[in-house]
Amino acid sequence: MKSLELKIRYSEYDSLDELSPRDKALAEAALRAASGAYTPYSHFNVGAAVRLSTGEIETGANQENIAYPSGLCAERTAMFHAGAAYPGSDMEAIAIAANQNGRLCASPATPCGACRQVMAEYQTKSGKPMEIILVGAEKIWKFYKVDDILPFIFDSLK
Ligand code: THU
Repeated sequence: MKSLELKIRYSEYDSLDELSPRDKALAEAALRAASGAYTPYSHFNVGAAVRLSTGEIETGANQENIAYPSGLCAERTAMFHAGAAYPGSDMEAIAIAANQNGRLCASPATPCGACRQVMAEYQTKSGKPMEIILVGAEKIWKFYKVDDILPFIFDSLK
């Protein structure tokens, strides 16, 4: 028997100004996108912004439904929109920002498992790491590949 350990490397920033200009632009797009959330049930407004290999930024926001499972998270709304509108482009990075009671959450909101799985799919499709930027009011986290937030990604079809 061997006991193994898994380590992940990620960065923490205190403000948007510490990000590179293109990451800052993506984070700001996610912050703006949260205004498109439709959340009559949770009032938890999430915005997501995807940067494509062309440099283009596509956004999404969570959309809820009275039949709860019919709604969709901001991340998947953004990725499915980007995937459908630009099927030939790769998704290089995604930024996420969440507001509660009209204010950006202090800690970064972390994506649900289903959204991580969808990120993994587009990362595999592009063959390059997809970066994830999680924007909170007090700190910002940057992860460098989906594997770091979804270890042991399902890949048994390979
Ligand atoms: N939600 C997202 O849009 N993204 C996340 O990463 C977590 C949760 C949405 C789903 C639902 O509309 C609301 O936030 C409360 O869970």
